[in-house]
Amino acid sequence: MTRRKTSETGSIGEAMEAADDRPVARAMAPTLGELWSRRLARRDVLKGIGKAALLASASALPLAACGDTSGFAPDDIFGFAEVPHGVDETHHVGAGHSADILIRWGDPVLPGAPEFDPLNQSAERQLQQFGYNNDYVGFVPLPYGSRSSDRGLLCIHHEYTNDDLMHPGLVPAPGQNPLELFTREIAEISMAAHGGSIVEVARGKDRKWNVVRDSAYNRRITPLATPMRISGPAAGHPRLQTSEDPEGRTVMGTLNNCAGGITPWGTWLMSEENINFYFMGTPNDEIEATNHARIGIPAPFSYPWGRWHKRFDVAAEPREPNRYGWIVEVDPLDPASTPVKRTALGRFKHEGCENALTKDGRLAIYSGDDQQFEYMYKFVSRDKVNTKDRTANAALLDEGVLYVARFDADGSGSWLPLIHGQNGLDETNGFADQADVLIEARRAGDILGATPLDRPEDVEPHPVTGKVYAALTNAKERTADKVDAVNPRAGNLWGQIVEMTPGGGDHASENFTWTLLVKCGDPSDPAIGAAWNEETSADGWFACPDNVAIDAKGRLWVATDQGSGWHAASGTADGLYALATGGDKRGVARQLFRAPIGAEVCGPIFTPDASALFLAVQHPAADGTVNFAGFNRRSTYADPATRWPDFDANMPVRPSLLVITAGKGSPVGG
Ligand code: FEO
Ligand code: CA
Ligand code: CA
Repeated sequence: MTRRKTSETGSIGEAMEAADDRPVARAMAPTLGELWSRRLARRDVLKGIGKAALLASASALPLAACGDTSGFAPDDIFGFAEVPHGVDETHHVGAGHSADILIRWGDPVLPGAPEFDPLNQSAERQLQQFGYNNDYVGFVPLPYGSRSSDRGLLCIHHEYTNDDLMHPGLVPAPGQNPLELFTREIAEISMAAHGGSIVEVARGKDRKWNVVRDSAYNRRITPLATPMRISGPAAGHPRLQTSEDPEGRTVMGTLNNCAGGITPWGTWLMSEENINFYFMGTPNDEIEATNHARIGIPAPFSYPWGRWHKRFDVAAEPREPNRYGWIVEVDPLDPASTPVKRTALGRFKHEGCENALTKDGRLAIYSGDDQQFEYMYKFVSRDKVNTKDRTANAALLDEGVLYVARFDADGSGSWLPLIHGQNGLDETNGFADQADVLIEARRAGDILGATPLDRPEDVEPHPVTGKVYAALTNAKERTADKVDAVNPRAGNLWGQIVEMTPGGGDHASENFTWTLLVKCGDPSDPAIGAAWNEETSADGWFACPDNVAIDAKGRLWVATDQGSGWHAASGTADGLYALATGGDKRGVARQLFRAPIGAEVCGPIFTPDASALFLAVQHPAADGTVNFAGFNRRSTYADPATRWPDFDANMPVRPSLLVITAGKGSPVGG
C-alpha cells in the first residue's frame, strides 16, 4: 500500500502515503551508530571472499558467503527470459508465459451477485462483488488436505479504496478536500469494497483457470457487514469495550488488510495494517490519546466513514481503534464461520503473517510492522499444531508468546518476549496486564530496545531451508546518524532484504543470525550503494521489496511497491522478480512480470506444483502518474493514466487478480 497526502495532491488514492513517510514520534531505541561502525570493520574483513560474495558497488555490504544450495534448484532458477524495465499502460510477462485476468474489482463473488456496472454502484451490490485493491492472495487446495494444483480457494485481501478512481465526479475543486465530496453511499461502498474475498477457482480441461461462480465457498468479508469475535488475552478487556460492544468481545469487520498467511490447518490469517486512516476526531481520553498517537491517530488523512458510522469517530468512541490492528483468523472452508481477532499476536500495523512449524510442532508466525522505524515480531504458540484434526487448532492462536526483534551489528539477533511483568513491561511503565502489552505492542517494543527498521513488510520463512526472508521496503527519513547494520543507508529510497537463520534451525529459538541478501536500487550508481550479485542484469535489479513468496522449487519471489516515488527509486514500474538465495547466483534477480503504470504488485502465491502463480495488481493508474511521460497528471475516474485491464472507454481502471501459467503445466519461471 502506498499513501499520499490529500491536502497536497487532491487525490484520495495518493492520500495515505504520509503515514509511510512519517515515522511516529516516540523515544527511539538506543542509537546503533557504534554498532554500525563495528559492522563496517567486519565488512572489510569479509571483502575478497569470492566473486559471488562481492558487490558491484564499492560501498556495498558483502552478500553472505555460505553458498547454501539446499532447498532449491540453482541450475534452473532462472528458466525464463526477463522482462525489461520500463513503464507503460499495460502488464508484461516473460516469454512463454501467459498472464490472464482471473477476477476484477466489481466482478461477482457471491452466487447470484450482479454484474459490475460502474454507473450503478451500491453498497448492497459491492457486498456481493470482488472488492477493491486486491493485496494478499492465499491458496487452500481443494479438497482440503490434498496437494491439488487444479482446484482451490483463493483468500484475497482488499486493502483500501481509491474512491476517486471508482466513482465519476469525485474531483475536488482547487484547494478542496475530495473527502468533502463523499456521500453516505460512497462511504459505504468504500466499506463494502474493503476486507476480503474467498473465491473458489479451478482449472478446466483446457488448462485455463476460472472462478467457480456459484461456489458455496465464495464469500465477502467487510468492515460494513461481517461481525467478528475477539479472542485471546485482550478479549473482554475494558480498553476494548465500546458503546456498541460493552463486553469488548465482538467487532464489526476488519480494516486495511495487507499481506497475510495460511495456517497449516487451512485457515486464513488477515493482517490489519494502516488502521489509523479510518478514525476521525480526537479522543477525550488522555491515555488512549497517547496510545493512539503511537499508531498514528489522528492521521493526516482519514476516510470520512465516521460521519455516518460513529464508531470511527474517536471523539465519540475513544477505544474503538484498540479493536483494530490485529490478526484475524478466518476459516475459508466454513462459509458460515465467524472470523476471530487473535489478540495474542499483538496490535500494530501488521503487514503479513506467514508461518512455519517449530521443531517440536508449535506454530511460529512472523509479522512486520510497516512504518518507518517500526519493528518485526514473531508469535510462537504454546501448544503444538494438531496435524490430524484441524478443528483441534481452533484456539491454538490464543496462547503463546509474542516477541519483537533486535538486530545486533555482529550479525546476531534476539527475539525479545513481550510478557507482562518482565523487563519493564509492568505497572511502572503503564502496563497493568498482558492485554495492555498486546494493545500497545509498539510501546512495549520501545521499552525492550527492539531495532527500528526500514519499514518491515512481508516476512517469509523458507519451508525447506528454514531461513526467513524479510523485505524492508524503504525509509527515506532515516538520517546518517541513525543508520545501523541492518538499516545501513540514509535516505533509503530502495530497501533491502534481510535473511535470518533461526538459532538451531528452530523457529522457536529466541536467537538468530542474519545477513543482508541484497541492498536494492540501481547497482550502476555508486551513490545508491546497492548490493547485488554482479551477474544481475541492468533490467534485473529492483527497488522497494514488499511481498515475497517461495515456490515449489524453493525460489524466492519478490513483488515491489515503490509508491508515488517510483521514478526516483528506479524509474521502472513495479514488478515481480525471482531472486536467487544460494549458490553462485545468490543475489541475482530477474523480472518475470511488470505492472501497468501506477500499480503495485501484491500477493504472489503458487499452486503446490508451481504450475500456476496468482498475482494481484493493486491500484493501477494511481501512483505517481504525474511522472508518467506523456500523461503527467493525476488520474481521475474519467481520465485515468490507463484503463487496464479492460481498455474500454466505458470501464474505469480496475485492480485485478491475474493467473500466470507457462503452458502444458510447466512450472512458472521454468
Ligand atoms: Fe500495505 Fe505495507 O503495504
Ligand atoms: Ca504491502
Ligand atoms: Ca508472502
